[in-house]
Amino acid sequence: MSEPPAVVLSGVRYGWQPALPVVAIDELRIGHSERVFISGPSGTGKSTLLGLVGGVLVPQAGTVTILGTDLGALSTSGRDAFRAEHVGFIFQMFNLLPYLSVIDNVALPCRFSAVRWRRAVAGSGGVPAEAARLLGRLGLDDPGLLRRPVTQLSIGQQQRVAAARALIGRPRLVIADEPTSSLDANARASFIDLLLAECRDAGSAVLFVSHDLSLAPHFDRRIALADVNRAQADRRAA
Ligand SMILES: Nc1ncnc2c1ncn2[C@@H]1O[C@H](COP(=O)(O)OP(=O)(O)OP(=O)(O)O)[C@@H](O)[C@H]1O
Ligand SMILES: [Mg+2]
Repeated sequence: MSEPPAVVLSGVRYGWQPALPVVAIDELRIGHSERVFISGPSGTGKSTLLGLVGGVLVPQAGTVTILGTDLGALSTSGRDAFRAEHVGFIFQMFNLLPYLSVIDNVALPCRFSAVRWRRAVAGSGGVPAEAARLLGRLGLDDPGLLRRPVTQLSIGQQQRVAAARALIGRPRLVIADEPTSSLDANARASFIDLLLAECRDAGSAVLFVSHDLSLAPHFDRRIALADVNRAQADRRAA
């Protein structure tokens, strides 16, 4: 049996104020294992779109189907559980837990998903070892740093912690919102290498938002958000 597409949006409308749509997408489909790069000017709804795909936001109209599951058919806790199991989300603001260490932040998805816990253990023999492997690939290999509270890290280091947390346990869909915005050239190259290697091994799809168009060639397809999102045009026409 063929795998379902990673993402299908159909007739999706969302406005932070319902009368002012920010996202209006008639149809958007991302294939199984497809890697898609999304670009667009600031404030045009990229993070809002990712929130809808990740089930963090619920559309006012339309359906969001991820890996064959209609998120609208799930309860709030059901969506949270689905995201923990299947989606690695690198938030634009990182959303790390300030009271946890670096390693415990990376390990967090494995506390909420037995599937990701099993895959992490299969990778390195244990969740902390797998977290340390991912962080090491991103240049965070000082053992003293791994036990530190995450708030004691620089912004660029915190962004790499957020990336490792998204990738641990090989989720089937990785959503990355400006994941390289605070990284230097070396850290950016390491991150792209790791992202592509982990997602290729796991057969994961990637939805990647960035202003850095030099990264676009790493992806199967580039979408300019304005080409699929009618919200701004609708607002101008209204
Ligand atoms: N939490 C929020 N509450 C109210 N309005 C919001 C909120 N988040 C975003 N918006 C509004 O939604 C619109 C789209 O914002 P969004 O964050 O999706 O843009 P973006 O394309 O990700 O921008 P950037 O490139 O700066 O990250 C903006 O007009 C913004 O003011
Ligand atoms: Mg954004």
